[in-house]
Amino acid sequence: MGNRLIGYGSYLPSRIMTNQDFERIMDTTDEWITTRTGIRERRFARDDESVFDMATIAATRALENANLTIDDIDLVIVSSVTAELDFPSVAVQVMGRLGAKNNAPAFDVRGACTGYIYGLHCARAFFAAGIHRRIMIIGAEKMTRFIDMTDRSTAVLFGDGAGALIFEHSSSSYSGIIDTVIMSDGGEYECLHGTPDSKIVMNGPETYKKAVQCMPDAARYIMEHAGITAENVDWIIPHQANLRIINSCAERLSFPMDKILVTVDRHANTSSASGVLALAYAFDNGMIKPGQLVLYPAFGSGLTWGAALIRV
Ligand code: UT7
Repeated sequence: MGNRLIGYGSYLPSRIMTNQDFERIMDTTDEWITTRTGIRERRFARDDESVFDMATIAATRALENANLTIDDIDLVIVSSVTAELDFPSVAVQVMGRLGAKNNAPAFDVRGACTGYIYGLHCARAFFAAGIHRRIMIIGAEKMTRFIDMTDRSTAVLFGDGAGALIFEHSSSSYSGIIDTVIMSDGGEYECLHGTPDSKIVMNGPETYKKAVQCMPDAARYIMEHAGITAENVDWIIPHQANLRIINSCAERLSFPMDKILVTVDRHANTSSASGVLALAYAFDNGMIKPGQLVLYPAFGSGLTWGAALIRV
């Protein structure tokens, strides 16, 4: 059984933190950040604004977009590694805030920057098994909770935000989430991880090398599995960590840059929210049209990586 995309929503905190703002508080330059990462600005959530708050706003907007209420959804999956509470899950909190009465299940997945692909993978499996009718998948991250302002090599890279997609079961297998692949290698844990005192530790160059290998590998796997080539794909939405990584992946896959959606310049790296925020941005700006085929590779802490193929 297939599925189709029926709604999307996103949320970005209002505070814009520019590279020039960083120049004022640490030893860095707009020139370094722009040339090494492509990032120009990012959004920082307020202190009193939680992952759960951002997830709830994105979910509300997706429900409005689909013309549904929360009781029309029979599974909510939230991808986040930055939630303030370890329990209960962000997903059940969102259900509670939105006043769900249908006792539908809700749970979180923790796949770091690949987390949204992990969520899509679960949703695809549930649709294939015929278990759920409408699934909302939310990616929500408050990366600023983990930013160490004494470490210029990571502080400038991250931002906050949330995005949500709603899929509905469908007899057509040619739309919605068509295919997914997810992978991990815990042996490479030290490349990128959080600490007990909520700091990000990253070996940038090592993580970079893995990213430019794993994302194209996952994208290639999906295309081979789906029996398609680069020409069949309308848009690539790679995880938005670094413009140089995105350019390198495009080159390795022989995709022209005009098929690559880039929002890292304005959102920076929002971990598992990055791809869904980029997709929402493309919808809002009329870039992606209904029926187009989108390939979404991601890579992150774990290490984890994977890709999804979605007809929007
Ligand atoms: O989302 C999960 C996936 N994440 C990623 O894929 C991130 C992967 N890594 C990267 O994107 C890049 O490695 C970074 C953007 C993090 C770093 O770029 P790089 O070209 O690999 O730089 P580097 O770490 O090798 O550092 C080069 C220099 C160093 O100075 P020296 O030792 O050469 O004198 C750093 O101290 O750049 C310096 N540097 C900075 N300078 C100004 C590091 N951060 C900054 C900064 N401003 N913010």
